[in-house]
Amino acid sequence: MSLFRRLFRKKSMEYTINQARGESGLQKAMGAFDLTMLGVGAVIGTGIFVMTGIVAANNAGPAIMLSFVLSGIACAFAALCYAEFASMIPASGSAYTYSYTVFGEVFAWILGWDLILEYGLACSVVASGWSAYFQELMRGFGLNLPTAISAAFNPGNGTYVDVMATVIVLLLSVVLLTGVKQSTRINDIVVLIKIGVVLLFIVVGAFYVKPSNWTPFMPFGFNGVIKGAATAFLAYIGFDAVSSASEEVRRPQRDMPIGILSSLGVCMVLYIAVSVVLTGMVPYTELNVGDPVAFALRFVHQNWVAGFVSLGAILGITTVLFVMMYGQTRLFFAISRDGLLPKSIAKLTKKSKTPVFSILLTWGMATVFSALIPLDELAELVNIGTLFAFIVVSIGVVVLRVKRPDVKRNFKVPFIYVTPFLAVLSCGFLMINLSGQTWIRFLIWFAIGLVIYVLFGFRHSVLGKLKREQNQ
Ligand code: ALA
Repeated sequence: MSLFRRLFRKKSMEYTINQARGESGLQKAMGAFDLTMLGVGAVIGTGIFVMTGIVAANNAGPAIMLSFVLSGIACAFAALCYAEFASMIPASGSAYTYSYTVFGEVFAWILGWDLILEYGLACSVVASGWSAYFQELMRGFGLNLPTAISAAFNPGNGTYVDVMATVIVLLLSVVLLTGVKQSTRINDIVVLIKIGVVLLFIVVGAFYVKPSNWTPFMPFGFNGVIKGAATAFLAYIGFDAVSSASEEVRRPQRDMPIGILSSLGVCMVLYIAVSVVLTGMVPYTELNVGDPVAFALRFVHQNWVAGFVSLGAILGITTVLFVMMYGQTRLFFAISRDGLLPKSIAKLTKKSKTPVFSILLTWGMATVFSALIPLDELAELVNIGTLFAFIVVSIGVVVLRVKRPDVKRNFKVPFIYVTPFLAVLSCGFLMINLSGQTWIRFLIWFAIGLVIYVLFGFRHSVLGKLKREQNQ
């Protein structure tokens, strides 16, 4: 077989679906409301509780509310495309698995490697946000961590390592090792608490809004708004959770778009409302802090409310982190099961059937990054990785409609030649608005990935072995 054909060897759709069997057998019990709760639970976290402040202070000013509208729209187009894929190929590994059937192995690896970056760093960003809120709550009880271990490596500020971020990552890794999955009931309770504290902030904060804080509205111009959208995009990440649940939905064709769009809608409305109140309470220049939402309440001397909001934020961010870490372990599992990373990573323990090495890798990666790299720098990299995956998936969904119209789809993207096109356009636009430094880091990550593929995956690929055997 020629080198070219080997690089682009594809899994057939049937092969992938068979491979996924056994992970499935799920009940069709969910409706549009459950999907919305699932989405809101996986999405609302560090983005709203932390990034709002950072983006307002550094990029968009009070116009951050517009940034949230722009990134929400890009997300909605892409999320619909994800949903069609997920309804066709209900397998672990999400976009990685989809690309294996559409574009072939080397592309699948690139995307898998990209998603490792996305999930790994997203875990770290979310853990940093958790740490900021947790430390603030401890401060309320008079407990202060030494500055040196209170935040990521930034000698200028006297901080070297974010210890609390590593603690939460460790705790959740232990939970994952026990094989526990997040139950829907716990998710529902936490989502309600999360929405509750966000509403509490909006209602209480509204009394302290000074409209003069909204001028200048766009201190960094419209470019700042777009840059803000590209950075604040992180706040919407987590949608795979909704789109990958299509197998468990009673009426997917009707409920998936409702679930996706309404959870996005709920998040967008909450994000906009929080940004309006936040930038109205405190001059945007003051908001570059780790816990801006609680900070704003303390700023107006509502310390008790700040305490409640911090507690809700900690709880809410924990569930987002759990979903992210779980996603990362499943991704490592799917890639190494295919032989593109060492197979031992996909090994399950006999007793609890958990992928121990995948969990340890996830733990290691999230610990190192969250301990050492500042949150805003991480966030941009997460976003570029996610936007790239969204673009590939959106193109893939059209390719597959043309090439395999016969495969059963529980859910179909409405306006197939328009929606994916808009997804590519809007995500691409946000991507080019990320900083040059982020692009360089992203390309370096890819270069490392390609080297690993050439040295390892290309030769150990399970699909490659299968094709060789078939040719003999
Ligand atoms: N959307 C997730 C959050 O904001 C990543 O925490």
